[in-house]
Amino acid sequence: MQKKIIETIVLEYLNDELPNEYQYLIEEAKKQLPKAWAPYSGFHVGAAVQLENGDIYAASNQENSAYPSGICAERNAIFYANSQAPDIAVKAIAIAALTGGKLLNNPITPCGACRQVLLETEQRFGKDIVIILYGSDKTQVIGNVKQLLPLCFEKKSLLNTID
Ligand code: THU
Repeated sequence: MQKKIIETIVLEYLNDELPNEYQYLIEEAKKQLPKAWAPYSGFHVGAAVQLENGDIYAASNQENSAYPSGICAERNAIFYANSQAPDIAVKAIAIAALTGGKLLNNPITPCGACRQVLLETEQRFGKDIVIILYGSDKTQVIGNVKQLLPLCFEKKSLLNTID
């Protein structure tokens, strides 16, 4: 038996010590919050995706009375980016959320389905996507999606070529 430890490195910043480029992307995510359609949860999420060429695609969560038909902000933003700019790698995604009219103190992290979709984009372009998780007290930064989804099911799983 071998014990394997999988590490996820989370960089935690006070908001006033965040690098400018992260702050800018967070502001773009926050701008999406009023555009969320979230009458069922009251939970508004904004996500902003930055491409290698600097372009930004941002979106919010959109709910539906048939609950599973709704979609998270992260998947909306990444699908929007990939569909508009299919040849340009994604560099970073910032995520912010609000409930009861208040920004969350602590960051939220993408749900499992969104992690799976973000991972596909990371692997599709072969470039790490930096994940920036905003909270009004602190912001967490993770260097790539793979760390958010260890032991993942991925394209190479389909070919049975996992090491
Ligand atoms: N939601 C997101 O948009 N992103 C997340 O990371 C977590 C959850 C949405 C889905 C649903 O519309 C609402 O937030 C409550 O779960």
